[in-house]
Amino acid sequence: MSELAWWQRGVIYQIYPRSFQDSNGDGIGDLPGISARLEYLAALGVDAVWISPIYPSPMADFGYDVADYCNIDPIFGTLDGFKQLMGHAHRLGLKVLLDFVPNHSSDRHPWFEESRSSRDNPKRDWYLWRDPAPDGGPPNNWLSRMGGSAWKWDEVTGQYYFHAFLPEQPDLNWRNPQVRGAMDEVLRFWLDCGVDGFRVDVLWLLIKDAQFRDNPPNPGYRPGEPDHHRLLQSYTEDQPEVHDIVRSMRATLDEYGERVLIGEIYLSVPQLVKYYGVNGDGAHMPFNFQLLNARWKADEIAGMIRDYDIALPEYAWPNWVLGNHDNPRVASRVGTAQARVAAVLLLTLRGTPTLYYGDEIGMTDGEIPPDRIHDPAELRQPGICQGRDPERTPMQWDGSLPNAGFTDGRPWLPIATTTSVREQDGDRSSMLSLYRHLLSLRRSNAALVQGAIDNVEAYGDVLTYERRYGNQCLFIALNMGVEDATVQSRSGVVLLSTVSARIGENFVQGANSLAASEAVVVAV
Ligand code: GLC
Repeated sequence: MSELAWWQRGVIYQIYPRSFQDSNGDGIGDLPGISARLEYLAALGVDAVWISPIYPSPMADFGYDVADYCNIDPIFGTLDGFKQLMGHAHRLGLKVLLDFVPNHSSDRHPWFEESRSSRDNPKRDWYLWRDPAPDGGPPNNWLSRMGGSAWKWDEVTGQYYFHAFLPEQPDLNWRNPQVRGAMDEVLRFWLDCGVDGFRVDVLWLLIKDAQFRDNPPNPGYRPGEPDHHRLLQSYTEDQPEVHDIVRSMRATLDEYGERVLIGEIYLSVPQLVKYYGVNGDGAHMPFNFQLLNARWKADEIAGMIRDYDIALPEYAWPNWVLGNHDNPRVASRVGTAQARVAAVLLLTLRGTPTLYYGDEIGMTDGEIPPDRIHDPAELRQPGICQGRDPERTPMQWDGSLPNAGFTDGRPWLPIATTTSVREQDGDRSSMLSLYRHLLSLRRSNAALVQGAIDNVEAYGDVLTYERRYGNQCLFIALNMGVEDATVQSRSGVVLLSTVSARIGENFVQGANSLAASEAVVVAV
């Protein structure tokens, strides 16, 4: 598998740092905590960790409001501590990816403080400032993704500034070459420190319409949906000029050898694949989020896999994501039994998988009492926006310890359930054992990493496909239903099943049985 880059062979694991492991009793996870758990991750069998933002931040959006792009927030640790963590990870063979948040800074970033100080400040144009509309209201109809107008009135200089998210997250002006230069220096700062790549926050939002035209109404809007769905985002997302920026980020990374550029992009597949660039000079992997909202039906998933494979240009490397810090957890979306099927799916599809911390033990969304809600998106749009705290609850290390071993103090969010790494560790039928098995199977079978994906079919509730490389062929069958089913196969040996007793059994030529919610990998 040597001709592939590490990020093509590997599996990425997302850490939400506030919630992974606290080391100092303040109830918030930190870098020493992550360091202490790196052996666990190496043994799990993942290849890279992506750490959500750890930069100095007022935490209005829990780190996605950056006040200094080239340092570490004291809540998490220090720059030296980060370098030690990276050294430790590298010694274990783990790559480290940072979350790069270029679309907006914090309103406390010195760049914005300068920009807002006067209309003729040299950094005025680093952000998006506009005069009021003739009636004194916002300059246009653009809406914030956190609710309400995306324009915030600034008394001191008598203009509005644009914020796609919170007012505390003013959008930078990526049409300004100085902004591009400053952000390029940020990338280089971390690349020089030795980071292995970046997940780029809201990559598809970086450029807005130069004429600030009103967004058109969305005919598909249904009452009860988040506010910004009232409008199509025609002039605020996926603007043609964004690809220039992606290309220049990629060019910078390319100067550093095998580093990876991943884009957070919520777009349809035809739009998404454009972010690979022309002949692959864009992002290495525009995140493929289709599984996050997929209807859990074999025929829909089959169609999605086929369509994605067809849409990818031949230079594009696929990828799949099952969970992240902005969406309900997979075990809550599809149920605990099907979460095991989903694990097999994620780790046997063609392309780089990204796992979300805690999904490997089947963590479900936590119950958040009203007085412990933290997510600003939910607090600003109560009852409309589905809060993101439930999927951000602390990692459950050891159910026999207070707070599941996450902290000695009061955890910033409540612990979701009682299951834990410790409980699942020695249990061959546990979710954790299933993940470990899948990850080692993937590592040792070239067909799973670089094989083609063929014969993607749905028969009732059963999804099947093959992964082939050289003369190796693996047959994968996933029963996405609650009834036992049969599946037609060639003869072969069961390498893995979510029903662990079955491993090593023979599959016969013809009909083979699958239990409800059983998924198998068969060498045929
Ligand atoms: C991305 C992040 C999300 C954050 C938003 C604004 O979507 O994943 O958590 O709120 O960007 O930075």
